Parts: sequence; structure tokens; C-alpha cells
Amino acid sequence: MITTDIAKAIEALRRDKVIAIPTETVYGLAGNAFSEKALKKIYELKNRPRFNPLIVHVKDAGMLPAIVQEIPPVAEKLAAAFWPGPLTLVLKKQPTVSDIITASLDTVAVRVPNHPLTLALLDRIDFPLAAPSANPFGAVSPTSAQHVYQYFDDLIEVILDGGECQRGVESTIIGFENGEPVLLRHGAIMIEEIEKVAGKIKTAIHQHGSSPLAPGMLPRHYAPAIPTYLTDDVPSLLKQFEGKKAGLLLFSRRLPEAPHLIQEILSPQGDLNEAAHNLYAALLRLEQCHPDIIIAERVPDTGLGRTINDRLQRAATVL
Ligand code: TXA
Ligand code: MG
Repeated sequence: MITTDIAKAIEALRRDKVIAIPTETVYGLAGNAFSEKALKKIYELKNRPRFNPLIVHVKDAGMLPAIVQEIPPVAEKLAAAFWPGPLTLVLKKQPTVSDIITASLDTVAVRVPNHPLTLALLDRIDFPLAAPSANPFGAVSPTSAQHVYQYFDDLIEVILDGGECQRGVESTIIGFENGEPVLLRHGAIMIEEIEKVAGKIKTAIHQHGSSPLAPGMLPRHYAPAIPTYLTDDVPSLLKQFEGKKAGLLLFSRRLPEAPHLIQEILSPQGDLNEAAHNLYAALLRLEQCHPDIIIAERVPDTGLGRTINDRLQRAATVL
């Protein structure tokens, strides 16, 4: 059921059920972080491998000591600067945090989501929520309650409807090595913003072909069901695939020479925030047109553009 009624969500969570919650990034598939039954159900619903850990969502930074053991000073600064908001911190876990959440690591990922409905929900329950993105494993993340419903139908009792996600891409994930911050996943907060607070940050995101550093950061992820290609030069790729029914994901301009093709424009203004906001909804619309292939145009590789290109790269087949 799609609803805006928090009471229904609370009631389902208290029965160890998994619900969908809105956040400013993407929708999450949430359960009581202290309920083994709910945690197992999350993996089962998503068909997610157990080596891929979940993020714990808390109502404010005051909840941190219940979840993590050590908070490096720079982590505290980052939390103060960006919470509530799309920043996830990976810190040493308390023994009480379930191995199901962390995939048996000794660290746990935590964030305070910035969405009024979900903050109100977190305020009224006395447990944190474990929540991955609300898509089946490997599928495009959902940015509306309707997307979640299309994926899971009535398998989820309550889908809390908070409208379209404002940011549209997942949180930025920062881990720590000897107290120094390390970027584990590009996300909704651009790295330049993080560096203003934390100073220069190392990147530990694996490049293509190497092994994943953040568990779950697989090279192929966020994958549309249709073969997808990422390119700087859409017209040449189109020539290469002549005869195929292509769907185009373009940054700011339509391709006038291909009026017969389905074209999704991420931001007519050429604004990377708007492009991020529209990214997953546009990919999902393209999928629903059932083209033979999707050709995505690389966006400018600065700021949020890096996050968008990262997601498109993971969606794309290597040429
Ligand atoms: O914006 C978001 O972060 C959304 C919303 C729902 O909050 N959630 C989200 O969750 O993107 P998910 O499960 O799709 O991605 C969580 C990722 C994992 O794939 C993994 O890369 C990383 O978080 N992660 C979780 N725990 C970790 C840990 N202990 N060490 C390193 N990475 C971890
Ligand atoms: Mg995900």
C-alpha cells in the first residue's frame, strides 16, 4: 500500500516488517536494525548477496554512540556539516550491531537522511532503520513511491510516499583509515564540498577490473535490463548500431538528426543537480520503452557529474 501515514509504517516496523521509506537520495527498503527477522527479509526481498552490507539510518548524530565505537574528530566535523543529508560515514561498529547489517565487517555505515517524513518516522521509533536502496539487486534505484511499487508490488506492506527524491542519486560514502577520511562511493554531495570541511580526501573507489574495496561496490551495478553504452560521442555510436532501436539518455540537448528515437534529456539547462535528480527516473522510463539498446551520453566530469558518470559507467556494458 502506498501511503503518507507514518502510523501505518510504525505499526508494520514493530511487527518486524520491511517497509519502503523516502529519503532525499533514493527510496530505501527499511527494517528495524535490531530485528534479525526484518534484516533477513531485506536481503531476501532484494535478492541481495549477503556480502553487500546495509546502511543504518538514525534520527540524529546523538544516536551515533549506540551504533559506533570510535568517532574520529573529522567524522564529527563531517556529521555536523552534512547531517541530516546525503553523507554516509563508515565507522567501527558496536558489538550490538548485527553481522547481517555489516556483512560481518567490523565497520558499519550510518547516515541521517534528510526527508521530513522519514525524520518524523525516526523520531517516533526507538530503534534505527537498516535500509539499502529499494530496488532488486542490480536494478536501477527508485526515486518515487511508484517506482518502488513497480518493483515490489504488494510484497511490501507499506510504501511511505514522500514524493520524488530531491537529490536522485545515493549518498556519498566516506570511510576512515587511521582517522583520515577516504571516499568509498561518489554520491549526492560532491567531493569538493566534503573537502571544504575535511581537507584533501583519498579515493578508494576501485577502478574497472580491480577488486571491490567497499563491499558491494561492484563494477557492474545500477544496471538497466537493457544493454547500455556510455559515450562522449552519441552520433558515432548510433552509426555503429544502425538498425537497432536505440533509447538515448542525453545531458542537455536533443539530437535533432534522430527524431525517430526515444530521447531523454537530463537537464535542458545543463545543470548537473537537475541531471542527477532526473537520472534514475529517465533510465527507468527508457527501460519501459523496451529499446534494443540504451546509449548514454557522458556528462561533464566535475562536481556531481562525477557521480552521474560513475553510475552510468556501472550501468554500461564495456565496449
Ligand atoms: O543514499 C543512500 O545511501 C541510500 C538511501 C536509501 O539511504 N542507500 C543506499 O544503500 O544507497 P545501498 O545498500 O544501495 O548501498 C549501500 C552501500 C553498500 O553497497 C556498500 O558499498 C556500502 O554502502 N557499505 C555499507 N556498509 C559498509 C561498510 N561497513 N564498509 C564499506 N562500505 C559499506
Ligand atoms: Mg543500492
